Amino acid sequence: MSTVASSAPAWTIPNFLEVRDGSLAINGADALELIRKHDSPLFVFSEPRIRSNIERLKQAAQSVEHPIRFFYASKANSNMAVLKTVRESGIDIEVNSGGELFKALRAGYRPNQIIFNGTSKSAGELDDAVSAGIYAINVDSIYEIGLVEDAVRRVAAASGKPAKPARIALRLVPEIGTRSHLGLQTALLTSKFGISSSEVLDAFRRGLQNPDLIHVCGIHIHVGSQTPDVEPFAEAFRSMWEHLVGIHRETGHTLEHINLGGGIPVNYLRDRSQADQLPEHERDMLGADLEPSVVLSEALRVARESARAADAEHLLDKTTILLEPGRSIIADAGLVLTTVLNMKQRPETGDVWLLTDAGYNIMLSMNNYKWYYHTISATRAGEPHESSYKVAGPLCDSGDVYFDIERCGRLPDYRKLPANVQPGEVLALLNCGAYSLAQMFHYNGRPLPAAVLVDEEGSASLIRRRDTYEDLVTSDIW
Ligand SMILES: Cc1ncc(COP(=O)(O)O)c(C=O)c1O
Repeated sequence: MSTVASSAPAWTIPNFLEVRDGSLAINGADALELIRKHDSPLFVFSEPRIRSNIERLKQAAQSVEHPIRFFYASKANSNMAVLKTVRESGIDIEVNSGGELFKALRAGYRPNQIIFNGTSKSAGELDDAVSAGIYAINVDSIYEIGLVEDAVRRVAAASGKPAKPARIALRLVPEIGTRSHLGLQTALLTSKFGISSSEVLDAFRRGLQNPDLIHVCGIHIHVGSQTPDVEPFAEAFRSMWEHLVGIHRETGHTLEHINLGGGIPVNYLRDRSQADQLPEHERDMLGADLEPSVVLSEALRVARESARAADAEHLLDKTTILLEPGRSIIADAGLVLTTVLNMKQRPETGDVWLLTDAGYNIMLSMNNYKWYYHTISATRAGEPHESSYKVAGPLCDSGDVYFDIERCGRLPDYRKLPANVQPGEVLALLNCGAYSLAQMFHYNGRPLPAAVLVDEEGSASLIRRRDTYEDLVTSDIW
């Protein structure tokens, strides 16, 4: 019988991420056994953790006693088994392309469970969304309203039936900053997203012009990903609420929903033992612990205040609130196991380098955003992690390292692991379930890794087979 370590390291999560018999266990499944069976590197996801993350959101919704719907942002991870787990947990889905729409439908989501976002939807993608009859197409400009109308006409003509109005929501960009990375902020006027406040009324008037083609059902703001504070959410909600009231007064049209987007943060620094190597603002952002119930109650509080002042509480009561959580559902439910393949000393600098088999082709955000994934030894998870190593991946690129090559200090220079790590030791990068698997690519002719999903009993099913060399050439024509 295996034993769970009595004094658990800070990164552990009871019944999910644990030290058992000295090594890492995921819902009871031994990490080293998984590597022996499925090879390295390997993505490991926890089905119970996905479900409990969704449960936490549902409980937040219950706590505010207002109609709330969650649409999982599938860009965070659209593996089919993940989509199925999310669907079975009883929430809806947000997609960002025709491909994600296809996957959502294939995973069994009903059209009225789907929202489609995106700045540059093609005619084909709009046709697919319109003919499926999805819950809402979030339009990103006034111009795009005409594109949706065109799609409705095309779909009606092709089917020989009268046009059925497409449901659209307007995506706004209200100039709200957050304390996340600039590339993850999406409500600034300098960002590429959305319709600015000065154009909102015109956009609504345009949207209401052809009710036989378009039904304007909602309004949307996504302030950004990994938003550590409640204020931007509340500000966004207030802004949308005030537009909703203004539109109602101006046109008599009542919107059905306000969509507050995604962005609920994940605490990447449960274990703070290496956090002192990070600048304070990175620490605050990566270590954010913001409860979804706080986001919802604060958003509703500001809206209710404004509704009271405008004598419009009856409108607020009728408005469903939507959220599009991605990261907060899947990030901490996934990890990467990677094996140290090589090592070297640098006598000149005194550094010890560990070279692993997990590069930025499977962990793009570590390179793009210098995103911090707490790294431990899966082989010796219970031992003190006090020795410093430079850690790097296998790609032919000096930037394929687990530290900030540009020396801006956004990642720790050294990773702390047990003493005397040798090739063959398995490491785990924690919290990498979001924006990793979904962004993998074949750079350097590297077959992409397998992924497994571990259930409550610790049994792991393969949910993505490892690529073969044949997969590297299947799309090439020569
Ligand atoms: C429109 C939209 N909704 C939802 C999300 C999901 O955000 P997160 O994964 O931070 O919850 C994103 C991602 O940035 C997005 O662009």
